[in-house]
Amino acid sequence: AIIHTSFDDFIFGVSSSSHQIEGAWNVDGKSENVWDHFTHNFPEKITDGSNGDIACDSYHKYKKDVALLKKLGVNFYRFSLSWSRILPTGFSNKINQAGIDYYNNLINELLANGIQPVVTIYHWDHPLKLQALGGMTNPLFADWFEDYSRVVFENFGDRVKFWLTINEPRLICVFGYSTGVIAPGIQSGGIGEYLCSYNAIKAHARSYHLYDKQFRQKQKGRIGLPIDCQWNEPETNSTEDINTAERALQFQCGFYGQPIFSKKGDYPQVVKDLIANRSKIEGFFRTRLPLFTPEEVNYIKGTSDFIALNHYTTFYVAEDKTIQKSTEMPSSTIDSRIKDWQDNNWIGEFSVFKTVPWGFRKILKWLKDNYGDLDIYVTENGFPNIVEEMHDKKKIDYMISYLSNLLDAIYEDGVKVKGYGFWSLLDSFEWMSGYTMGFGLHRVDFNDPKRTRIPRESAKVYADIIKNRKLTPVE
Ligand code: FCB
Repeated sequence: AIIHTSFDDFIFGVSSSSHQIEGAWNVDGKSENVWDHFTHNFPEKITDGSNGDIACDSYHKYKKDVALLKKLGVNFYRFSLSWSRILPTGFSNKINQAGIDYYNNLINELLANGIQPVVTIYHWDHPLKLQALGGMTNPLFADWFEDYSRVVFENFGDRVKFWLTINEPRLICVFGYSTGVIAPGIQSGGIGEYLCSYNAIKAHARSYHLYDKQFRQKQKGRIGLPIDCQWNEPETNSTEDINTAERALQFQCGFYGQPIFSKKGDYPQVVKDLIANRSKIEGFFRTRLPLFTPEEVNYIKGTSDFIALNHYTTFYVAEDKTIQKSTEMPSSTIDSRIKDWQDNNWIGEFSVFKTVPWGFRKILKWLKDNYGDLDIYVTENGFPNIVEEMHDKKKIDYMISYLSNLLDAIYEDGVKVKGYGFWSLLDSFEWMSGYTMGFGLHRVDFNDPKRTRIPRESAKVYADIIKNRKLTPVE
């Protein structure tokens, strides 16, 4: 039942990312990024064999997008910058003016319509030229990311006041560098994953310090890290299950959360211990997790002005000694069992997900308990229906029940949640699922050359919530 209904001191928005919507993959000086390369060369890795060549064509239709945002009445729009559109070589030696112009136009159009730009600097689509040098596993990745950050602060920071550095580093490190199911498709197990994590955390911290020291005083914005945290619920209240669930949380959220958001800093001890242990069992002479020096721990600690949370689902977790633990995730979701207590038709690659609204409240509380009183912005939350569906009731139910739990977290648990960005404005190129997922408040027909955007029922419901700043149950 919905108890609390009012949103005060709160901003609403929607989220997207460059590669998923822009298209124009080889237009106006943009270079090839890892996703262009991955989809062009390994179409079999994408459910429908598709790619982001045209996507929603937001590169040409950004004014249409802003008009939809205006209609929704959102306070902010979260989008990301395409690194290869801005720096085609990957490095600061060549700035592509057409790329800068595109984002200037988008930002100005948003501001002219009273919508605050929330900008993700990097959402998984780095230039292929950087990948030739190892991408996120190159020890100089942090230098490259700092230089790229400088270019974007210099060009857009007069108008952008809300920055997000690297979208969901855990996901890109696991799926991009360990299992290789998404671009850049590197299959190097924990070695690649942990090297990527280590570099991502350092890169984030460098971008933060650069902003803090050289730009903040003049530009007066905020900057933080968006992490993906699902809730992990112990299957029983046995000590083993409770410990396993906590371990899973530490591997998923703590891996990035503790070094950056907490007062303690550094990786969680359990993460360090388990990776060291498993590395030994597997015959490595040293742990696969590159460790931070005490100086680095201090440099990294506190480098986020807020917590940005991407949250979708909850897993039930049980200690399960029968399952062979893999090298990639020594102790987290590998040994979890997902309990099928409610089938609400999450589809395709997402069918392991469930709609569990109370898990949202619990993860918000967990973040507060672990990292103190930082403001929390939910930068992603959403549900994919079948693309043809226009009366997307399941998405609406999802949104309302999750928002209701968000309010409970605020009013009952005292969590400082300050904003919510729904994923997503449009149906878009959903990475390995291609165009098979209806995450959008608007449907886009990808067979239609005009890429017409058609509002779903959920667009209307969300617009009402934003307008009334109130949650009203729908029939
Ligand atoms: C998140 C990604 C986003 C989108 C949603 C469904 O993990 O950040 O790009 O794919 O999932």
